[in-house]
Amino acid sequence: MTNIWPEPRFDYRDPDIRNNEDEYLARQRDVCPVIRSEDFGGFWALTKFADIAEAANDHERFTTTVGPTIPPYGRPYGSKPLTSDPPEHGVYRKLLQPFFSPAATAAMEPLVRTIVRERIAEFVGQGKGDLMAELGEPVPAQVMAVLLGLDRSRSQQISLMNKKTQRSSVGEDLRSAEEVQAEILRFLTEEIESRRAGPRDDLLSTIVHSEVDGEPVTDEIRYGMATMLIVAGTDTTVSGIVNTLFHVSRYGPDFRQALLDDPEKLDLFVNEALRFDAPVFGLARSVVGDVCLRDVEMKDGDRVLLLWGSGNHDAERFDDPDTFDPDRRPAANLTFGWGRHRCLGDKLAKLEIRVVVEEVLAAMPEFRRVTDDPPPLRMDLEHGPSALEVVW
Ligand code: HEM
Repeated sequence: MTNIWPEPRFDYRDPDIRNNEDEYLARQRDVCPVIRSEDFGGFWALTKFADIAEAANDHERFTTTVGPTIPPYGRPYGSKPLTSDPPEHGVYRKLLQPFFSPAATAAMEPLVRTIVRERIAEFVGQGKGDLMAELGEPVPAQVMAVLLGLDRSRSQQISLMNKKTQRSSVGEDLRSAEEVQAEILRFLTEEIESRRAGPRDDLLSTIVHSEVDGEPVTDEIRYGMATMLIVAGTDTTVSGIVNTLFHVSRYGPDFRQALLDDPEKLDLFVNEALRFDAPVFGLARSVVGDVCLRDVEMKDGDRVLLLWGSGNHDAERFDDPDTFDPDRRPAANLTFGWGRHRCLGDKLAKLEIRVVVEEVLAAMPEFRRVTDDPPPLRMDLEHGPSALEVVW
């Protein structure tokens, strides 16, 4: 099997690939669905829905224990539950699950709405602004602070650390990635230590005091779980919010009003925005033993990127996949992953996106982009616009 690209490479940060990604991946899915890249030390990338789902379900041949990103984020410890395989995985996932149940998520709605309304009140008088900076970045960081049990004012540090994480991953600078992870660790230390002495009724206390088989979990696991939530739940939702607002901006007043009037229509719309531009474009596995997939021989230890965003545009799974269809009935997509590691925070992320759309449409129903040019794009493993300049 040969790669159709002149050089065997797939650097998802390369503007040539990034700016023509849909076309590039559509050709790959047709001609050479398992990409070989020599970037980042060499890895495979799976582009077809069925292959991605198969790898995500096959924990014996595709492990998450080596780390979730290519290149690595520079974390000196694992991030359970994500970096553990079954049966261990289920133990850690269960510890977090009560905070992400449908009831727990629904109970967050008033808080999310307050956060969004307060943010909008701060800037609505300006008549123009970047919805990434004004809403996309602050809202998930504030929700994350409250979810963990931190003071909302600490959300600014969460945003800053996420930005640095992005920058270091884009720059492929392992040293600065390690520094950012160390900074997140320092940030969490004080909070974790205070909960050791006096447990509170919050997610961080649950992590601090969690036990497995009657034994307290190690500090490494505590820190890994808390850091993972910050990284997994904040920046991802930023992209989800901004992508969705971008798609809303393409529609006229009647459609916008229909989104406000019909909750089911809004849910379908959010689902389609998340399918169309998956915020987490891909995450990694490592091969265990030798694996043959579509006649491609992969060796023990090879790194593999599961391209959720590509699987979401696979014509074998979705009719007319490159068309944004706001009423598309959801054939389940890969935006939140697949199988046992499927995102724990999916309902919370969708809640945040839905509330942002509702409140933006209520406060500035006629908002429109300042240009018809496509928005500038992020160039890292998270996908979405890097800014959304609008007037209202
Ligand atoms: C639009 C926003 C989000 C997207 C696109 C997203 C995407 C994903 C994906 C693709 C995975 C699967 C990872 C894999 O199999 O390698 C995942 C897992 C996970 N996500 Fe999210 N996520 C989002 C928001 C959140 C939020 C808000 C939280 C928590 C506050 C969260 C917490 C987690 C956790 C804990 C896992 C690991 C689950 C496990 O290993 O069992 N995510 N997410």
